[in-house]
Amino acid sequence: MDQVFPDGFLWGTAISSFQAEMGAGEPSDKTDWWAWVNDETNVSVERVSGDTPLDGPGFWELYDDDLRRAREDLKNNSIRLAVDWGRVFPEPTYDVEVKVRKDLLDNVWKVELEEGDVKALDRVADHDAVDRYREILKSAVKYGLTPMLTLYHWPIPLWLHDPIACRDDIASTDRRGWISQSTIVEFAKLAAYLSHQLGDLVDLYCTVNEPRIVSEHGYLTRRGEFPPGLNDPSLFLVCLKHLCIAHGVAYEQVKRWDRHEASPLGPSTVGLVAVLQHYEPADPDDPDDAWMSRFIDYAFNEWNLNAVFHGDYDMNIDQVVEPWEQLPHQVKGCDFIGVNYYARWRVRHRKTGADPLLDYEYAPCRGDCSDYGWDIYPEGLRNVLRWAYMRYRRPIYVTENGVADSGDRLRTRYLRSHLDEVYKSIHLDGVPVRGYYYWTLMDNFEWSDGYRIRFGLYNVDRETKRRTPTKAVPVYREIAESNSL
Ligand code: BGC
Repeated sequence: MDQVFPDGFLWGTAISSFQAEMGAGEPSDKTDWWAWVNDETNVSVERVSGDTPLDGPGFWELYDDDLRRAREDLKNNSIRLAVDWGRVFPEPTYDVEVKVRKDLLDNVWKVELEEGDVKALDRVADHDAVDRYREILKSAVKYGLTPMLTLYHWPIPLWLHDPIACRDDIASTDRRGWISQSTIVEFAKLAAYLSHQLGDLVDLYCTVNEPRIVSEHGYLTRRGEFPPGLNDPSLFLVCLKHLCIAHGVAYEQVKRWDRHEASPLGPSTVGLVAVLQHYEPADPDDPDDAWMSRFIDYAFNEWNLNAVFHGDYDMNIDQVVEPWEQLPHQVKGCDFIGVNYYARWRVRHRKTGADPLLDYEYAPCRGDCSDYGWDIYPEGLRNVLRWAYMRYRRPIYVTENGVADSGDRLRTRYLRSHLDEVYKSIHLDGVPVRGYYYWTLMDNFEWSDGYRIRFGLYNVDRETKRRTPTKAVPVYREIAESNSL
């Protein structure tokens, strides 16, 4: 019996601007990520691979072919893509003065823009870049791909974040990225401007991609692989908090400035993308591992959603929300949860007596492992979908799910087995999953790991930019075309 998905289910792939755009056409060289991967110290101590985004798949120029392929080869009806903040605003937007209201605890709470402010932003924006994004979105629509647009998928303009100065001495610079509340204000301007300019083409928005990964890999890591490469639990929490507030202010802007219905979905459906992984104790009989696994689940899966949905900002992360940690006025809305799911992590307590955020590690993958050494565990997807829906009661899109598999041994099985779990969530658990986006359309720049890691449904030749289908392409095509497994 075919497993049929609900009518109107969105089938797509996800890509992100910095990872996919470069390789042909104008580079995006005005962002913290650009500075980060090109920094000689970072390369020499192997924080980053030394690969350059300039060898990427070149979506900036080749988008029409890629989108056609998504439609004609994959029979998809949607695509998730992102804008690059540094392309749209290579120069500061600080001078566009807007009304910022703070709460009693001095947190940015509301950012208010008038028509004149949006016009002023338009004078600062790079029109070639905005026009190119319009062309890309129009091409998606032309091919019948409903665009899901992510406003922030990691790089931020250098005028807001100098990751090298922050890495070396964060007190030496004002450009502190998400540690500084001014980034929240500028993000509200970006959200207002983009939804005003692109709203006639877009109805589905993701505000922030994975607050936890940005905070963890930037501020809580021994390797220091993401900008600014620090290892400080308090900065991890500040970053996470500000990204959750940023979701709220961006949510309000999109609702205010996008009044166009580009599709039957209505003018704007706006969600947060959370990365939700399956955690379990490395040794289930060890109470410390069990405690740590629960703690990591709380810190990494739950914290950001509790903040966005309940206004719970548990800043000392003791799993008790004190009155001063409750910011219900920061709850602005979240129409859906975007779930990025990849793998299972078996958590071990290191027992060094350090802060718990510094006192865990993951046991090595020992079963079905991807090229990244991630533990393939399809059942975990159903678990996190059920958990997220039971707890927060919003429709869900699986906004990313995929496998690093350069040998093309795992992808087809990964895709099918994870979709089987999505099917079960919908039909057995009653979770309203509305769409699925495979990560990713074609091989791209995998952040600090460069090109070694290949998630693409299409392999990309770095020289010629030729796309070659992996074995999963005909499989995904059949699933999307028949709307069934
Ligand atoms: C990110 C992607 C990334 C993928 C695989 C997700 O965390 O959103 O940008 O490439 O995981 O690592």
